[in-house]
Amino acid sequence: MSKSVGRLIGWWRVLVAASFFFHGLSSSDKAPNYSFVHNATTAPTTSYYDYIIVGGGTAGCPLAATLSHNATVLLLERGGSPYGNSNITLLSSFGSALSDLSPTSPSQRFISEDGVINARARVLGGGSCLNAGFYTRAGPGYVRDVGWDSRLVNESYHWVEDVVAFEPPMREWQTAVRDGLLQAGIVPNNGFTYDHINGTKVGGTIFDRDGNRHTAANLLGYANPQGINVLLHATVHKILFKTKGVARPQAHGVRFVDAQGVRHTAYLKSGSKSEVIISAGALGSPQLLMLSGVGPADHLKSYNISLVLDQPMVGQGMRDNPMNAIYIPSPLPVEVSLIQVVGITPFGSYIEAASGENFGGSNTHPRDFGMLSPKIGQLSVVPPKQRTPEALAEAIEQMSNLPDIAFQGGFILEKIMGPISTGHLELQSLNPNDNPSVTFNYFQEPEDLQRCVQGLQTIEKVIESQPFSKFKYQGISVHTLLNMTASTPVNLLPHHANVSTSLEQFCKDTVMTIWHYHGGCLVGRVVDSDYKVIGIDSLRVIDGSTFYYSPGTNPQATVMMLGRYMGVRILRDRLESQGKK
Ligand SMILES: Cc1cc2nc3c(=O)[nH]c(=O)nc-3n(C[C@H](O)[C@H](O)[C@H](O)COP(=O)(O)OP(=O)(O)OC[C@H]3O[C@@H](n4cnc5c(N)ncnc54)[C@H](O)[C@@H]3O)c2cc1C
Ligand SMILES: *[C@@H]1O[C@H](CO)[C@@H](O)[C@H](O)[C@H]1NC(C)=O
Ligand SMILES: *[C@@H]1O[C@H](CO)[C@@H](O)[C@H](O)[C@H]1NC(C)=O
Ligand SMILES: *[C@@H]1O[C@H](CO)[C@@H](O)[C@H](O)[C@H]1NC(C)=O
Ligand SMILES: *[C@@H]1O[C@H](CO)[C@@H](O)[C@H](O)[C@H]1NC(C)=O
Ligand SMILES: *[C@@H]1O[C@H](CO)[C@@H](O)[C@H](O)[C@H]1NC(C)=O
Ligand SMILES: *[C@@H]1O[C@H](CO)[C@@H](O)[C@H](O)[C@H]1NC(C)=O
Ligand SMILES: *[C@@H]1O[C@H](CO)[C@@H](O)[C@H](O)[C@H]1NC(C)=O
Ligand SMILES: *[C@@H]1O[C@H](CO)[C@@H](O)[C@H](O)[C@H]1NC(C)=O
Ligand SMILES: *[C@@H]1O[C@H](CO)[C@@H](O)[C@H](O)[C@H]1NC(C)=O
Repeated sequence: MSKSVGRLIGWWRVLVAASFFFHGLSSSDKAPNYSFVHNATTAPTTSYYDYIIVGGGTAGCPLAATLSHNATVLLLERGGSPYGNSNITLLSSFGSALSDLSPTSPSQRFISEDGVINARARVLGGGSCLNAGFYTRAGPGYVRDVGWDSRLVNESYHWVEDVVAFEPPMREWQTAVRDGLLQAGIVPNNGFTYDHINGTKVGGTIFDRDGNRHTAANLLGYANPQGINVLLHATVHKILFKTKGVARPQAHGVRFVDAQGVRHTAYLKSGSKSEVIISAGALGSPQLLMLSGVGPADHLKSYNISLVLDQPMVGQGMRDNPMNAIYIPSPLPVEVSLIQVVGITPFGSYIEAASGENFGGSNTHPRDFGMLSPKIGQLSVVPPKQRTPEALAEAIEQMSNLPDIAFQGGFILEKIMGPISTGHLELQSLNPNDNPSVTFNYFQEPEDLQRCVQGLQTIEKVIESQPFSKFKYQGISVHTLLNMTASTPVNLLPHHANVSTSLEQFCKDTVMTIWHYHGGCLVGRVVDSDYKVIGIDSLRVIDGSTFYYSPGTNPQATVMMLGRYMGVRILRDRLESQGKK
């Protein structure tokens, strides 16, 4: 074994914490001049709209833009603007927002009861302002099972793609992963496509060729400026319901609070087609329903929330697709890439990869941001429950002492389809700014664990494939790489002679998130197939909280598509009912 290989193995404890940096790409940060975006502090105490949308995120923005063409729309977002903030707009600063733990950060960290550290958006554009950018559609089977109209789905994807989706540049390292996947049997080669097809493909990205991020907020460029008002730093505390003189509870407005703590009320204009639409994300939407009196009666009672509707399914069906990754230090320099290639296996495991370059020594790129950095809460060297603030701090400290070469490499990850394992969400306080408590029960279902193991076995084949060989030190076996990813004195691999058992343990001990969590307001349980809240009038939920399973290999394309799709359908209904009058 060469000296440098020996040194690398010495760093195994924190190598996985190594992270990836991106070249200082040109920062042409073209902020659109939206005349309709304002600070909530400037809003009147009382106002009236046809549609009030809570949450200017990945679904909320395309939804609001669409509705604004034939109705008046208020879009309320608790966070600020993504424009002009290079932590958001540049591919090269991926991770910066996620590691900013201040109360004004565009990212709000949360830790599930499982112990996995996670993040939720707090900015106009939502998760599309924080994410790794991979853009890929749901498969035809998913669209069919959900019951969407495939033609309108395709039109809606195109509407989104015209503004936010790009073909990524394919360089050597990603190409080696692609060819390794093909050799590992994940065939055929489907080239570059947004479509979800078994085999290996290059997917889209919301980063353009200059490394500028195009987010769901850019879809507001489609809006009719006369029909929309977007308020930033507007935190909705409650949906307001009419319960007297109506057959069943009817949403008729919202109460929101601006950055100075001033309360405002927005009401729906009278008329049967006006609606409040919640698009506050998989944590925010069930949380806001509960805070407004819609949820499990006992739970709401324990918080003295007056009950509007006993709905035990609110907050149920929370899922997060487990992610497991293997870090592979490279003897050769590698390009900087976020996810570009994906292997869509026939056994329900999706293989993706990212590579990076060490920018140690550069002041503009402190070298500890990236998809596997402890700075953003990713820590696979200890099992979830041991990922304490102290463990994170120790990993960050150790990482800062690593030599530059330790950062030269990439990781190959697998995310499982579904998942099947499911959890739940509860309030922890009456403050909408606080995180609710959420449990995902990773790998509770054996099938999820099996998919993880098969995914890792495929990654092993990729690492050992001929096309990938130049990016791997020859002296390091896959087992050593697993050790490097997982090991601490309390968590050594392989523990077992039985490799299958070991990989199962590896899956559980190194589980991280790929931030595709969803559920909490599932279709058929909390909302009907038109996304209307069951048992309540004039209220819908439209966002990732309605999904049983994560769509495609990565969800954002379908979340944006859904915002557009439902906007078009709601307007059609509205115009039809007006025609009948
Ligand atoms: C770090 C990271 C990496 C990811 N990588 C990828 C990837 O590469 N590809 C991919 O396809 N997907 C990726 N995802 C997942 C994807 O971004 C999310 O699934 C998607 O953005 C969720 O959209 P949403 O509309 O359901 O919620 P969000 O986009 O989170 O929108 C919810 C919005 O509601 C606002 N809100 C919440 N509560 C309130 C309230 N009370 N009042 C006012 N506003 C409120 C929030 O501030 C937020 O802006 C990633 C996510 C993260 C976080
Ligand atoms: C932005 O738009 C507003 C309203 O249309 C206009 O008054 C303002 O001058 C514009 N600002 C810039 C920098 O273009
Ligand atoms: C808005 O209404 C007009 C007719 O009043 C119709 O032509 C147009 O297609 C509608 N727009 C949308 C987005 O539905
Ligand atoms: C960018 O992120 C860094 C840390 O991640 C933080 O210190 C800084 O304040 C952020 N900048 C902005 C404009 O939010
Ligand atoms: C929508 O697009 C998908 C793939 O891009 C295709 O398989 C499907 O047939 C299309 N549906 C319609 C109705 O055009
Ligand atoms: C909005 O107003 C609040 C309170 O005055 C202020 O703190 C915040 O900086 C303002 N934000 C923007 C984007 O103007
Ligand atoms: C609910 O009200 C009771 C009685 O007023 C009080 O003792 C209790 O602390 C309240 N609980 C919460 C969570 O506010
Ligand atoms: C494609 O993969 C899925 C699982 O991801 C599997 O259910 C399906 O059978 C596969 N289809 C084909 C044609 O192999
Ligand atoms: C993995 O780590 C354990 C404990 O340090 C060690 O016994 C084992 O030899 C390592 N395996 C490999 C292949 O490096
Ligand atoms: C190895 O583990 C797998 C999965 O747990 C199990 O099915 C198999 O029987 C084990 N083999 C041996 C030899 O213990």
